[in-house]
Amino acid sequence: MRSLVFALACAAAGSSLAAGINEFGLVNTCNSCHGVGGVSVGPSIPNLAGLDEGYLKRVMMEQKKGDRFSTIMGRLLKTYSDDEIAVLARYFAAKEWKFIETEKQSEVADRGRGVYRKYCMNCHEKDGKEKNTEDMPRLSGQWPGYLKLETLKYVDKSFTDRKPSEKMAEKISHLSDDEVAAAAHFLASRKGGQ
Ligand code: HEC
Ligand code: HEC
Repeated sequence: MRSLVFALACAAAGSSLAAGINEFGLVNTCNSCHGVGGVSVGPSIPNLAGLDEGYLKRVMMEQKKGDRFSTIMGRLLKTYSDDEIAVLARYFAAKEWKFIETEKQSEVADRGRGVYRKYCMNCHEKDGKEKNTEDMPRLSGQWPGYLKLETLKYVDKSFTDRKPSEKMAEKISHLSDDEVAAAAHFLASRKGGQ
């Protein structure tokens, strides 16, 4: 009888408790860089809130295994179990996406719109709002510094790590730093869908 009550209590509290994982403690570590609830306050650190659960999990597993470039995340995640990573992905995916208010520089955004339409729109639809799936993250309203840094890794020839999307690298590898910065500014300033 005791064990049945315990099992029911675990089921009611969610599987993270059932697996013996302290969600609060785990998430606290992330908050210091990614902001409370995954809404970042620094331009080079991505928002996590509202990204797709499958995407978050896949990226973290790739970082943990060293299959995906990262400065910090790979080292940090080596100390996390696969179950803990699954709990983290579920937690941040359940939060609401928050658009970052960027100071819009109209000229740069106009140039960025041109770059976006020509080189990004085929894959990142609706001004980068879609798709937000396991295969691809939402980009509109993400921090501009982060968008620029990540996109430059697909352009920079001296960056020899495997690029997560070789197709994206093929399509944009000839862009200049200025074009990438403009596209990043445009995407960051969009709510998406218009
Ligand atoms: C010391 C700062 C720091 C901490 C702590 C931290 N992160 Fe990160 N995170 C980063 C940085 C910087 C990046 C960009 C990739 C890189 O260079 O490591 C990143 C990238 C990510 C990404 C990739 C997002 C994308 O769109 O590709 C995910 C997912 C992520 N972090 C999840 C987490 C989770 C979950 C935690 C808590 C366990 C955490 N991070 C803790 C700094 C941090
Ligand atoms: C051929 C399709 C394609 C094109 C064209 C494309 N992308 Fe991507 N992009 C992807 C895919 C797929 C991913 C997800 C890669 C992954 O996580 O495995 C991605 C991911 C990204 C990311 C997130 C990177 C990260 O690791 O967090 C950024 C930022 C980005 N793209 C910006 C751009 C910009 C800006 C352009 C245009 C200049 C562009 N992309 C053009 C397919 C494309």
